[in-house]
Amino acid sequence: MHSSKTALLIGASGLVGNYLVFKLLQSDRYEKVITLVRRPMHLKHPKLDERVVDFDQLSFEDVAGADDMFCCLGTTIKQAGSKEAFRKVDLIYPVKVGKLALETGAKQYLLVSSIGANAQSSIFYSKTKGEVEAQIAALGYPNYTIFRPSMLLGKRKQFRLGEELGKVVNLVLSPITLLVPPLRKYKGIQASKVASAMLDIASQEVPGQHIIESNDLQRY
Ligand SMILES: NC(=O)c1ccc[n+]([C@@H]2O[C@H](COP(=O)([O-])OP(=O)(O)OC[C@H]3O[C@@H](n4cnc5c(N)ncnc54)[C@H](OP(=O)(O)O)[C@@H]3O)[C@@H](O)[C@H]2O)c1
Repeated sequence: MHSSKTALLIGASGLVGNYLVFKLLQSDRYEKVITLVRRPMHLKHPKLDERVVDFDQLSFEDVAGADDMFCCLGTTIKQAGSKEAFRKVDLIYPVKVGKLALETGAKQYLLVSSIGANAQSSIFYSKTKGEVEAQIAALGYPNYTIFRPSMLLGKRKQFRLGEELGKVVNLVLSPITLLVPPLRKYKGIQASKVASAMLDIASQEVPGQHIIESNDLQRY
């Protein structure tokens, strides 16, 4: 089925975002894919409209024309340099882009959050993820889906010690989850599966707010 929708993606250069941008470009659902990036990705595709922006200075023109808004943006406190800088990337920017996109006609928001997201958590990361989920919910999108993956698996350009250790834990955990089902949600998830789930759910256009937990992402 051919459709004439426009996708807007932030975080296209990241692990999940990179899988997603190619899936969006290949999908018949979209005739145009807008990416907001802070530096050029040097990707060429007739459907791609890459916009190099300053995320602190976004305007309506940067997001105009989007139907479906996808957010795969994120950082770590270490990479960002401070809790405040982390919060900007994981909370302020996703909400700001979402607000502008809604005001210019977007109908769906698909957000990559995280397992354990909880605005009341004493863990800063989980609290920030819970807050971004809640603030986007409050924007009032007709369709809003939150994806809460566990540790993401896939090939990264840069080395992350925490994730490399996590992969070892994941290897040990995998057989245990067969015996202890409640632990299944902690099993690592391929980033490509998260991207597939995002496209699939956007294509279904299910009204209302939905949360897809890590377990449910394994079937994609
Ligand atoms: N890693 C995990 O195991 C894990 C587990 C659960 C949930 N998550 C969440 O899943 C989401 C996607 O994760 P991922 O690992 O795919 O992300 P990633 O590979 O770290 O990519 C992050 C994206 O955010 C962009 N970004 C970072 N800092 C920025 C800034 N200051 N200004 C503008 N853009 C910025 C990056 O752009 P540049 O290329 O320009 O840096 C990149 O496109 C994140 O929200 C993450 O918190 C991750």
